Amino acid sequence: MPGEGPADARIMLIGEAPGWNEDKQGRPFVGAAGKFLEELLASAGMTRDQVFITNVVKSRPPGNRDPLPDEIAACAPFLERQMEVIDPDVVVTLGRFSMARWFPGERISRIHGQPKRVGRRLIVPMYHPAAALHQQALRATILEDFGRLPKILAEAEAVKRAEDSSGAPPVQQMGLF
Ligand code: URA
Repeated sequence: MPGEGPADARIMLIGEAPGWNEDKQGRPFVGAAGKFLEELLASAGMTRDQVFITNVVKSRPPGNRDPLPDEIAACAPFLERQMEVIDPDVVVTLGRFSMARWFPGERISRIHGQPKRVGRRLIVPMYHPAAALHQQALRATILEDFGRLPKILAEAEAVKRAEDSSGAPPVQQMGLF
């Protein structure tokens, strides 16, 4: 299940792996976590058809177990290619498996919602919507983090424009975070 969204999406959301519903429908985030993800996007003034949604692992791990390291490794070239082709300005990691690619060894409770610049992109680690669904205390936190996405996107686009015109990163822009 490769994921879905416009080829020119500015934001790419990367979850863990398809679940039962996603596997059946061939679409990402269509179950309960997906409904909540749509709510989160709405809180940022966005709809799911404006963003590209995919996963670290492209097939459903049996019994909904965690993806194994060799499964993540086997799918990595597909995710890399998707990022190359879509070339998003902002990548939102949903949960620990996609977070680990850019923030190895980090804890989501410490870094959630804080963008990190990697090349020309901003990578934003977020809680997984399924985790926030099951822990009421996280709901407000993830809603607040998603609410900052428009500002983060505007910042990423400004950084890219400035680099395109001058060839140098506008350091003062990053001070906003
Ligand atoms: N959870 C994920 O991480 N990805 C999906 O596509 C659905 C649920």
